[in-house]
Amino acid sequence: MKQQDVMPADGKLGIMVVGCGAVSTTFITGVLMARKGLAKPVGSMTQYDKIRVGRGDNKKYLNYNDIVPLARLEDIEFAVWDVYPQNAYQAAMYAEVLNEKDINPVRDELEKIVPMKAAFDKNYAKRIDGDNVKDCKTRREMAEALREDIRRFKKEKNCARIVVIWAASTEIYVPVDENVHFTLAALEKAMDEDDREHIAPSMCYAYAALSEGAPFIMGAPNTTVDIPAMWELAEKTKMPISGKDFKTGQTLVKSGFAPIISTRCLGLNGWFSTNILGNRDGLVLDEPANFRTKEVSKLSTLETILKADVQPELYKDYYHKVRINYYPPRNDNKEGWDNIDIFGWMGYPMQIKINFLCRDSILAAPLLLDLCLLSDLAARAGRYGTQHFLSFFMKSPMHDYTRNEEAVNNLYQQYTMLKNAIREMGGYEADEEID
Ligand SMILES: NC(=O)c1ccc[n+]([C@@H]2O[C@H](COP(=O)([O-])OP(=O)(O)OC[C@H]3O[C@@H](n4cnc5c(N)ncnc54)[C@H](O)[C@@H]3O)[C@@H](O)[C@H]2O)c1
Repeated sequence: MKQQDVMPADGKLGIMVVGCGAVSTTFITGVLMARKGLAKPVGSMTQYDKIRVGRGDNKKYLNYNDIVPLARLEDIEFAVWDVYPQNAYQAAMYAEVLNEKDINPVRDELEKIVPMKAAFDKNYAKRIDGDNVKDCKTRREMAEALREDIRRFKKEKNCARIVVIWAASTEIYVPVDENVHFTLAALEKAMDEDDREHIAPSMCYAYAALSEGAPFIMGAPNTTVDIPAMWELAEKTKMPISGKDFKTGQTLVKSGFAPIISTRCLGLNGWFSTNILGNRDGLVLDEPANFRTKEVSKLSTLETILKADVQPELYKDYYHKVRINYYPPRNDNKEGWDNIDIFGWMGYPMQIKINFLCRDSILAAPLLLDLCLLSDLAARAGRYGTQHFLSFFMKSPMHDYTRNEEAVNNLYQQYTMLKNAIREMGGYEADEEID
């Protein structure tokens, strides 16, 4: 594809965020501050990374924006939905991720971002208790009300394009059910029949976004768009989808570190990961049904990097455990510990310990920016369905499990996929060189 096949990023881009919590407000505040020149969007690939294009004498390193047309930060308009009615300024202050001095310069703009009523069902997040909630009788009504929100916001702010991203609480685990989730017709029937067990509120957001011609990104581990019915809808509406679960702290380290073990043909006996976390996300994940969704997502990372079928002597029976412990004093400043039991020459055991004192939302915010800008780019480039090149940003990348397709979890393979997609959309050749 030549770059001229990619539509230009003309006009405003509306970013509609589900959830107005810690991640969402840190993201929005950072973008508003960055475009005033008051903060730096550190960690964002679209704002910092340079990709090599061409080879030999012709090679040069370019920013993404010099290869493909990306929306400018100045052209972004924000909207949010939340169960709590507090505006983005109040929510940012409540989250206590950012200092007041880093919020106040954009206070006026944040105060104008007032959550629209949420499509919410308490059975999906028992620990959340707000009343800024839509009064809908059926899941179908929920989806239609959300479609209305999208249309209204797009018109009011005169946006050329919309992207919808989920940064709301993790819902309880919804196992994929072949009878409901495998075809669009079955999914729509279940929405009409108000099947609350199989249709999570998040599915109504995704359904609404795709139906309104907006890409949808799932930032939590919810199964939402990770079902064949949604793949079908994305094909039908020609919209990009991606998920699941922002890859921020511990799993980022895991997907970057595990390749060291496999590349050197060292063995693994066990990998124990634990976290303490005290924000509202931690509170929701303290509920076993919600933690189960996160656990499935976090556990999937190692299987495709340390492969038991390829190296049974090294990786056959390793024990992989992930825990998240709610511990209020730490708030958003999550601490993660990893204990890795490896073995080497003649089977001799060794241990590696990793202690990451991170800031959850500070790591997540640049991912939201990149995912929104790159999903918008993908739509303009005519790419639709699951966007594998966005796996780089995801803990549990979407893949077609009905055809036994494997997810790519290795961070360096994911980076190659990301760079090649940008190269291709920019009219350059894809390649596998490491630099
Ligand atoms: N920060 C990270 O490193 C990270 C990494 C991966 C995934 N995530 C996920 O991102 C999400 C947001 O994290 P956070 O720390 O901002 O949590 P948070 O609790 O601060 O914010 C989530 C917000 O979503 C709202 N909400 C819940 N259900 C909703 C619904 N149906 N519609 C609209 N709003 C709804 C809640 O009221 C809350 O204000 C969580 O699912 C978390 O698991 C975060």
